[in-house]
Amino acid sequence: MSDQTFRPMTMGQQFGRRSWAEPWKIKMVEPIRIPTRAEREQALREAGYNTFLLPSDLVYIDLLTDSGTSAMSDRQWAAMMLGDEAYAGSRNFYHLEEAIQTYYGYRYIVPTHQGRGAEHLISQACIKPGQYVPGNMYFTTTRLHQELAGGTFVDVIIDEAHDPTSMHPFKGNVDLNKLQALIDEVGAAQIAYVSLAGTVNMAGGQPVSMSNVRALRALCDRYGIPIYLDATRMAENAFFIQEREEAYADKPIADILKDFCAYTDGAWMSAKKDNLVNIGGWLAVNDADLFDQLRNMVVIFEGLHTYGGMAGRDMEALAVGIAESVQDDHITARVGQVRYLGELLTDWDIPIVQPVGGHAVFLDAKRFYAHLPQDQFPAQVLAAQLYLDSGIRSMERGIVSAGRDPETGDHRYPRLELVRLTIPRRVYTQAHMDVTAEAVKAVYDARAETKGLRMVYEPKYLRFFQARFEPIA
Ligand code: F0G
Repeated sequence: MSDQTFRPMTMGQQFGRRSWAEPWKIKMVEPIRIPTRAEREQALREAGYNTFLLPSDLVYIDLLTDSGTSAMSDRQWAAMMLGDEAYAGSRNFYHLEEAIQTYYGYRYIVPTHQGRGAEHLISQACIKPGQYVPGNMYFTTTRLHQELAGGTFVDVIIDEAHDPTSMHPFKGNVDLNKLQALIDEVGAAQIAYVSLAGTVNMAGGQPVSMSNVRALRALCDRYGIPIYLDATRMAENAFFIQEREEAYADKPIADILKDFCAYTDGAWMSAKKDNLVNIGGWLAVNDADLFDQLRNMVVIFEGLHTYGGMAGRDMEALAVGIAESVQDDHITARVGQVRYLGELLTDWDIPIVQPVGGHAVFLDAKRFYAHLPQDQFPAQVLAAQLYLDSGIRSMERGIVSAGRDPETGDHRYPRLELVRLTIPRRVYTQAHMDVTAEAVKAVYDARAETKGLRMVYEPKYLRFFQARFEPIA
């Protein structure tokens, strides 16, 4: 499939003028309220124009993240009642271990409190100071743990990933030439592992193809370099493989997921995303010696190796969530809802990252506010304006998230300056998507008068969470 010819089908086209619908009905509701304009103005000022610092009671539709915000099923809630809160050897751990082995195919499992707990362990265990960690675009916490372990992250994603208008069907792919060039330059022994993510969050939820991971495996095998997978949104990645790689058109998501994982040596997981729980994570590897090391480390940083920071009940809900997360009808509705929002915005010519990815619609703040220089934080401005307009909360994914270069201390200037409208799983309806699209349109129509921001407080690590801003007069 070439760049030029690829256009993702609407769900209607795909299923022959038949719509998809969610494979569930709603049993319980949580009331939400639109804060008044005056409340929104005050809240935004008090939050230093950072949507992470807004109290959620003053948010109407919360599209900050898909992390930990999913609705659990009745089966998962029932599983919560089966918690075995034994300190050691909880039966829920064995259920979780079995679910990961069954659906992801890895041999050894280490539970962690959430994804970054797993990232910490794998980075400390596998990176020697001075080594390089090539990956298909950085993620904030992932790269920081790699740097804290003494590693240097090197972006080896294909160029198309940095271009929000490229219609490449697999913008998450690793550029094997870039990886080869790094190997030639520093030597294979200086490469700790390849850090592969599917889908790629910071690129717009873009997928990696099966043929890419297969070729990556072959290249890495030539040099003895391991591949570790950030499996956080890998079930969603499997949907795109099913849709866009002919050989997989008739394969269930569950099979595609397992086939993909088989090309990697292990994975870490933020179970708060794909796996449909509010808290949890895990690390899985195939190598017995590495497992031994990780299992020893987890007791220092997370908890005993049969709970790793999770309550027994949370592990049980997670085991059920894993099985639900790989169902074809679930993933179809999940990605379908994200795409529905993307199509509304596309119809109004609002600049977004194309093609629409798995977990979110990303607004292109560079094109939205072409008059604002990047060091006036266009994406931060856009997230603030959207909240002000409608009480909808989104997230900056641009220069603030990219942080500073640890060597020079300067801002890193990423090519992508985005605002993420992240869709929680099984939480909002299509009407919420309509309201969201209309709010974005209103902010877009008012773009010419919009002014930039100045950063007035900057924390040392992961500054986007707690930084504060003021409008430039
Ligand atoms: N990897 C990816 C690709 C992620 O998106 C996240 C979290 C993590 C690792 C870390 O996992 O939060 O459980 O510690 N992403 C959230 C987000 C925070 O909003 O995208 P965690």
